[in-house]
Amino acid sequence: MSDRVIVFDTTLRDGEQCPGASLTPQQKLEVALQLGRLNVDVIEAGFAIASPGDFEGIQLVARHVKRPIICSLARALPKDVEAARQALKKAKRPRIHTFVATSDVHMKYKLNKAEDEVIQLAVAAVKLARKYTDDVEFSPEDAARTRHDFLFKVLEQVIDAGARTVNIPDTVGYAIPVEFGETIRAIKNNVPNINKAVISVHCHNDFGLSSANSLAAVLNGARQVEVTINGIGERAGNASLEEVVMALKTRKDLFKVTTGVCTEEIYKTSRLVSKLTGFVVQKNKAIVGANAFAHESGIHQDGVLKYRRTYEIMHPKEVGFGESKLVLGKHSGRHAFMERMKALGFSLSPAQAEEAFERFKRLADQKKEVYDEDLMTVLEDQAAKAPDTYQLTYLHATSGTGVVPTATIRLTRGNQTLEGAASGDGPVDACYKAIDRLLGVRPKLVDYSIQSVTSGKDALGEVTVRVQGNGLVEHGRAAATDIIEASARAYLSAVNRLMLNGKKSPRKTATSQP
Ligand code: KIV
Ligand code: ZN
Repeated sequence: MSDRVIVFDTTLRDGEQCPGASLTPQQKLEVALQLGRLNVDVIEAGFAIASPGDFEGIQLVARHVKRPIICSLARALPKDVEAARQALKKAKRPRIHTFVATSDVHMKYKLNKAEDEVIQLAVAAVKLARKYTDDVEFSPEDAARTRHDFLFKVLEQVIDAGARTVNIPDTVGYAIPVEFGETIRAIKNNVPNINKAVISVHCHNDFGLSSANSLAAVLNGARQVEVTINGIGERAGNASLEEVVMALKTRKDLFKVTTGVCTEEIYKTSRLVSKLTGFVVQKNKAIVGANAFAHESGIHQDGVLKYRRTYEIMHPKEVGFGESKLVLGKHSGRHAFMERMKALGFSLSPAQAEEAFERFKRLADQKKEVYDEDLMTVLEDQAAKAPDTYQLTYLHATSGTGVVPTATIRLTRGNQTLEGAASGDGPVDACYKAIDRLLGVRPKLVDYSIQSVTSGKDALGEVTVRVQGNGLVEHGRAAATDIIEASARAYLSAVNRLMLNGKKSPRKTATSQP
């Protein structure tokens, strides 16, 4: 058996499927290019038939991302397989991933189909997909709740029909590691032609066990793991790439397998996905949370200073978490700044570098110590500034005990300037009302969160908001040492997206059910 585990990233399909995480085709491309740098083996770029946006996203990724295999999901229906094929036309290495549910509960209540009909659908879809590409994956949806005898039968037949990967999804996150591992072992022992296919696993996180289940499957012979960055996905999410990959790497003594992932790119990828989806990474999230490598207790700090391995099982550098926490201050020059940018993995054009340096200097004036996380936030903010959007150029907010909170705001777009004021329940509310009034919009604020990027009273405050309007949900994120300013910028960025995307083609229309 091969000791190489294939890493199949489904951030752009299952991850993007979770409510409020939807990405534009261009944003999908941005993530896919970064996944390429992370060196994943397969990128599931979307579900071609689900919406014109998904179709376009897959096409764009297939056209521009050449090293990894690019995959589209398709129900076991000819029209889905056909759509996947069309979207993948420009892919150098296309994969069609087709699926149909096989558990009793899904077949009876969702599909209203008998076992034989389900097998026919599966076999026909695999055969059709094989006409277009040699690389076909099949998933018996809800496999973890499928009777073993039926599961073995389906797998044998789809492998005979030409599936080269058989993926075992724990669709509803029901499995327990020891049991899921046994299922994989039973598949290896009972499906006669299983040596013609790679066994893959796809675990959801409803019990918080998705990574543990994936790892148990690898111990029992699975050689592909389907994962998402930051574990985003339906409901409680999917197994997270960073957790599974780092466990395989760090505990190679136990797993005796390797992956091709360039782990130093993990942190950057996590930040990008969080920024574009608006899903904030919790501070104590394994591997990529802000506290993942922070030691607070005196005993731990003392131990780490004496010998890192006393309390650190991975080196922060291995996941691209810059080691030196304190980097630059207001006396730092251009050279030091550029060196630090390079070390953090940013390559900037001269104009971008100049603008970033100016922003760094402004930040260093407000803040004594500028940390790597501050710099990354500044750069991400800068990258997010799209042309054709409104920029916040002036903000004055007042609040206090016995004072009516008010905000005066100036927005500019090209030569246009808008200025106005509003009062509200607090300074943030006043800013949001002023922005609504100036732009003539009334979106609903469905989520607001704030967190400090680094520690200390002068830390950057990073605000993430999610707003809803015209049937769309968009998010915005911004950081500043002044949290009212960060709040206003984040909101404006979300409203800008709402106005831009409201004019474009509609988002998802099809459901994920066959
Ligand atoms: O969770 C699931 O079952 C899926 C399949 C489509 C693979 O996402
Ligand atoms: Zn899934």
